[in-house]
Amino acid sequence: MKVPLLDLKEQYKSIKEEILKVTEKIFDSQYFILGPRVEALEKDIAGYCSSKHALGVSSGTDALLISLMAADMDAQQTVITTPYTFFATAGSIVRTGASPIFVDIDPDTYNMSPESLERVIASMTDKERASLKAVIPVHLYGQCADMDPILKIAKKYNLFVIEDAAQAIGAEYRGRRAGSMGDFGCFSFFPSKNLGAFGDGGMVITGSDELYDKLRVLRVHGSHPKYYHKLAGGNFRLDAIQAAIVSVKLKHLDKWTESRQENARKYRELFANSGIDDVIKLPVEKEDRHIYNQFVICVKDKRDDLRLFLNEVGVGTEIYYPIPMHLQECFLDLNYKKGDFPVAEHAALHTLALPIYPELSDDQLAYVVEKIAAFYKIKK
Ligand SMILES: Cc1ncc(COP(=O)(O)O)c(C=O)c1O
Repeated sequence: MKVPLLDLKEQYKSIKEEILKVTEKIFDSQYFILGPRVEALEKDIAGYCSSKHALGVSSGTDALLISLMAADMDAQQTVITTPYTFFATAGSIVRTGASPIFVDIDPDTYNMSPESLERVIASMTDKERASLKAVIPVHLYGQCADMDPILKIAKKYNLFVIEDAAQAIGAEYRGRRAGSMGDFGCFSFFPSKNLGAFGDGGMVITGSDELYDKLRVLRVHGSHPKYYHKLAGGNFRLDAIQAAIVSVKLKHLDKWTESRQENARKYRELFANSGIDDVIKLPVEKEDRHIYNQFVICVKDKRDDLRLFLNEVGVGTEIYYPIPMHLQECFLDLNYKKGDFPVAEHAALHTLALPIYPELSDDQLAYVVEKIAAFYKIKK
């Protein structure tokens, strides 16, 4: 049996007619950049994410970058984030000239630990604290970070909060939607996300009129009015084709999310009966609405052998992420070393993402667990 990590073709089959209809209209109109399709999606995403404003941008990475630019980051400043994330979170900080400061993660959710955040800020000198401008919690795998204490700490130290919600559209924390709690919420429409485009795309949401106005200007090279530049922005525009495709998909998103949650429930049942629950830690659901962009298990040992074995028997997996940010070669000048963030380093060595996409069959789910159980029973 084959169980790929993700099979977008199955999803496409179910919405093909809708997609072809809307894209044909765009081809006929020859209106490709920004415009009414993008505005319609912005309105829908603002509503879906309970935010006042939404701005379509070229990718999740650019959503982070433009938010940092709107927060006026520069080379003298620092931003706190987690070392256990996709590169773009830390990469976008560096691209503004600022420096990232990392804090360790919670061992259950893999999200920023508020205790570590408080500890790191408390240990700073006054000068270091004065340079600190923002914090970027990441809602990893589709579950929100523990936002209340993070927001409280940010308020205490007067920091911008930029939520990296690239993996978490529609996730909730104590009744609030991912992205809507901080100053900026950043989303990715990369095809493998729960709400994916047919290419790159992203969105920033904000509740602030002032920040929204600034984001709008930064998206078009800082031009306002046209060809007059008070700010140096970039080309962060979303195109009409991607916006229209994402709009079609948004109507199906809650149904797909429920299927992912249902698959997670089935995995839990299957693992509970597999006889190997002592070697596997399942995802811990701490917050209200986990949207399961990824279903990530943590295994006691032999993670890489397990991955090879699963690959041989037709099960796709991935490691998100094998090298924490503080150990990446391009960040060596930040002077972090192995051992600085033990929870993130442990996660990088022991976690494995299993297939969780909505169209998986019960037989496929059972097959994945059966093969993992077979591997550990042989290796015990
Ligand atoms: C946590 C996180 N942040 C940022 C990004 C960047 O998004 P994109 O690939 O759309 O640039 C991603 C997506 O891969 C992500 O998973």
